[in-house]
Amino acid sequence: MDLYQGILSRRSIRKFKNQKIEREILEKIIAAAQYAPSAHNKQPWEFLVIEDKEKLASLRLVQRWTSFAKDAACAVIVCGNLNQTFSRDKDDEKWDYADIDCALASQNLMLAAHSFGVGSCFCGASPMPLVISGLREHFNLPEHIRPLSIIIMGYPDETPPEPQNRFDENKIHWENW
Ligand SMILES: Cc1cc2nc3c(=O)[nH]c(=O)nc-3n(C[C@H](O)[C@H](O)[C@H](O)COP(=O)(O)O)c2cc1C
Repeated sequence: MDLYQGILSRRSIRKFKNQKIEREILEKIIAAAQYAPSAHNKQPWEFLVIEDKEKLASLRLVQRWTSFAKDAACAVIVCGNLNQTFSRDKDDEKWDYADIDCALASQNLMLAAHSFGVGSCFCGASPMPLVISGLREHFNLPEHIRPLSIIIMGYPDETPPEPQNRFDENKIHWENW
């Protein structure tokens, strides 16, 4: 699949066939996520793969907009490792790049999935404090692991309409605002 066409044709998929994603393909998809750019090249991501049907169904108890996960092949929870991220916590500066790095990894993951004919939908975790703490509790994540996204995946059982033309030339500011 041509990369540009892949970017334009990816859509969120929320209906899935009852079909597992082969382990080899899933690993290739997650490998692509690890090729994302990251601040200071820290690559602070971790990937929790959930395939168990009961666990998939229970995701909605922690993140209410994930009820369709019950019929998915898997969910990949993309997490930032706060011990590895490019960050600062001194004087009056406190920041880290984990969420941004994990968002870039998540997009790579979804585009790679699309290239293998696997549908996906990004569901948010960070910056919602209750979802972060809920996921930590539900899946035993240590405190230095902060979930950024829950990518719900499977072979598509729907064909969402083509996106409307999203290009808006007014969003581009040449040289001056
Ligand atoms: C930060 C973020 C959080 C999102 N959270 C959810 C979610 O919780 N549940 C869901 O069904 N879709 C979620 N989405 C998917 C968006 O609804 C979807 O990307 C948007 O409607 C555009 O559709 P498209 O992905 O087909 O282009 C989220 C997307 C982003 C970027």
